[in-house]
Amino acid sequence: MEPKLLLMVLFIVSSTAAAAQYIRPLPRKALHLPWDSKSSSYPQQVHISLAGDRHMRVTWITDDKSAPSTVEYGTLPGQYDSVADGETTSYSYLFYSSGTIHHTVIGPLEYNYVYYYRCGGQGPEFQLKTPPAQFPITFAVAGDLGQTGWTKSTLDHIDQCKYNVHLLPGDLSYADYIQHRWDSFGRLVQPLASARPWMVTQGNHEVESIPLLKDGFVSYNSRWKMPFEESGSNSNLYYSFEVAGVHIIMLGSYADYDEYSEQYRWLKADLSKVDRKRTPWLFVLFHVPWYNSNTAHQGEGADMMTAMEPLLYAASVDLVLAGHVHAYERSKRVYNGRPDPCGSVHITIGDGGNKEGLAARYINPQPIWSEFRESSFGHGELKVVNSTHAFWSWHRNDDDEPVKSDDIWISSLTGSECFDQKRNELRNKLMTP
Ligand SMILES: *[C@@H]1O[C@H](CO)[C@@H](O)[C@H](O)[C@H]1NC(C)=O
Repeated sequence: MEPKLLLMVLFIVSSTAAAAQYIRPLPRKALHLPWDSKSSSYPQQVHISLAGDRHMRVTWITDDKSAPSTVEYGTLPGQYDSVADGETTSYSYLFYSSGTIHHTVIGPLEYNYVYYYRCGGQGPEFQLKTPPAQFPITFAVAGDLGQTGWTKSTLDHIDQCKYNVHLLPGDLSYADYIQHRWDSFGRLVQPLASARPWMVTQGNHEVESIPLLKDGFVSYNSRWKMPFEESGSNSNLYYSFEVAGVHIIMLGSYADYDEYSEQYRWLKADLSKVDRKRTPWLFVLFHVPWYNSNTAHQGEGADMMTAMEPLLYAASVDLVLAGHVHAYERSKRVYNGRPDPCGSVHITIGDGGNKEGLAARYINPQPIWSEFRESSFGHGELKVVNSTHAFWSWHRNDDDEPVKSDDIWISSLTGSECFDQKRNELRNKLMTP
């Protein structure tokens, strides 16, 4: 085609696309992730997670029960001057028996440094990068991932961004009782999850309980061990961690949350340890959103919100990230259903790419607290620039779309009057038994 003509065609196509309604792409098929036969002690499904200051937990699976749980690591390729040993677990689920799941904590590690490592004394060399000690730090955020063509697209987009830590507000594999899908999910995410820490919390697809036969979260807790012990929690379903001036609390939408619950008690204890001079930013993640104007899952977060929102408000939480609804939505600063300059920004980012497709119907008119909403697959990036400023952006997967995706500067509540005003309120709340 003549270049001029091509340009004209492109112009017509792009201008009609901009004018017309956005045509939402269909769900994509489940990926086929074939079993790759290797020796039974070969490390599979490698992923890493933060495990206390300057430590990282390396998790992998072998078919062989007697394979060692050692991780050899160092700062030069092929030269491992350190070695750590770990623990193993496994589980059975109806007719399925898992491989041996190894969890090994390595460290102390330097900040912002590349390490090379090998699991169980064999297999390929992996590379990880530790987070920085101070700002700036960038988080990639995507919930409700699953393992479809859209998941792949989301992961490819995340792979292109420079980030330090992946945050996942629930719904990982969509195994839904079919246990080998946890294994295929592990293989799918390994290239990213072995290189940067993945910090996850549970969603409804992690429950997998069967009345009288199976307790909930058997697979999730075995495979995705998070630093709950390191943060004084007695459950893998809620924990916290600190990284580069940010305190992040992962809550459990599927653990008890009323004011007499263990989770609530732990949350109060955790908040009382937060020092906003050391960590000026405070983020919270959980699965079921409290602020949601999509018709999907409407009102499901209401009970947890009634129980916990006053506490998060008193603690001046800057940002709340949720999933569950397969779409994107960002709120203004909000509290108790109304815009409030001292409230948190709530973002629903359950659009990672699962097999159930998108949630396309919204309540109209748009509530005044809702600032931006769109039903497309994508991921978020959160760059915390310094102690007062963070830049949030949401990236739709189709990059050739003419419509701009969402972005906003968020300023920390520690620099605002709200923080000083609420100091006493928080102290009172934390002191009541
Ligand atoms: C923090 O970053 C913002 C945005 O880049 C900038 O305007 C501000 O001056 C910075 N503050 C400090 C204390 O460096």
